[in-house]
Amino acid sequence: MLVLGIESSCDETAAAIVADGAEILSSVVASQIATHEKYGGIVPELASREHLRKIEPVVEMACQRAHVGIREVDGVAVTEGPGLIGSLLVGLVYGKALALALAKPLVGVNHLEGHIHSVLLENRMDRRAGKPVREARLPAVTLVVSGGHTSLFLVEEGRHPANSHPVFNYKRLGHTLDDAAGEALDKVARLLALGYPGGPVIDQLARSGDAQAVDFGRIKMKGNPLDFSFSGLKTAVLYQVRGTPLAVEAEERRAWRKTLESASTDALRAHCSQETLDLIASFQNAVVRDLLERTLAAADASQVDSVFISGGVACNSLLRARFGETSRVHGLRIFFPSPALSTDNAAMIAAAGYYKLRAGQLADTTLAAHASFPLGT
Ligand code: KG4
Ligand code: ZN
Repeated sequence: MLVLGIESSCDETAAAIVADGAEILSSVVASQIATHEKYGGIVPELASREHLRKIEPVVEMACQRAHVGIREVDGVAVTEGPGLIGSLLVGLVYGKALALALAKPLVGVNHLEGHIHSVLLENRMDRRAGKPVREARLPAVTLVVSGGHTSLFLVEEGRHPANSHPVFNYKRLGHTLDDAAGEALDKVARLLALGYPGGPVIDQLARSGDAQAVDFGRIKMKGNPLDFSFSGLKTAVLYQVRGTPLAVEAEERRAWRKTLESASTDALRAHCSQETLDLIASFQNAVVRDLLERTLAAADASQVDSVFISGGVACNSLLRARFGETSRVHGLRIFFPSPALSTDNAAMIAAAGYYKLRAGQLADTTLAAHASFPLGT
């Protein structure tokens, strides 16, 4: 079964062809970083406009690279939410129109469900290719951590009551009450004039800093201990900077950056004092420690031994290393998708959509986009 996946919830226009939910024939991602970079964050109106320009060529390229004619596709899977409403609408309306014109079945996929399926998809691909990887088994606790989300789910596999096809159940264990982890990284990077998106650059620069230099303490949650809150930590960084030489340094960096098209990490590092690098490393360490500890607590509370971590922040090298060390100590089975499948892509949407198509969970022309669209119960 060939599924065309379409994803446009944020600032990436993506299309992919996936065979049988287990093999990526193509995955095309058109990034809008260059459009939003100079604003230090995503400008929703510009994002919608870029999606409109890119959606058709991206879908065409996905078909070309897969050597699949659009009429050979067996179904269309589109992201229905959550995300920026104008961005979501472009992919959703395009996918809906395509399914209608080609008389193909259509399914709507929750973006977070897509991130969870990226782990399962890649694991299936690796095992099919004979790579020596362990099976990503369910039930699993999943941390979806990106610029828009920080959520923990318990994911279980069940059977559709009518046709016995696999269906997935998601129980929401916790979520961020304010900023997502990636959003906090991006905002601190903006404060320190490090560029956009902030996560990758903080990941690089933190290697040159002392992660113990600033003690941010642990983030305390009053209610559900599996919820997250990063806005206080972000403000704590602001207090470390405001009114200090670090603020002057950041403004100098901002002025320097304006003179350039783009700055390499090495050049950026050369424009950061050791104190700034220490602050970056300490902040990243506090974010990673919080993500790790709450995810471990969720695995413990759910009594599962499999943990999946996906979303853009799952690219973070410290996060990967910390989870790796933990798996050895706690005997957990930890799964990260490769970086290309951790960030937004349409292969994950096609993979999640494949199961919905098989189980007959089809959408019709009333399928709508939802900016807020919780996953699970
Ligand atoms: O999943 P994604 O592509 O889009 C959303 O759904 O938000 O994630 C983008 C986020 C951004 O906040 C970016 O700064 C962060 O992922 N990110 C990273 C790294 N690479 C991307 N954060 C930390 N370390 C990285 N290496
Ligand atoms: Zn995402």
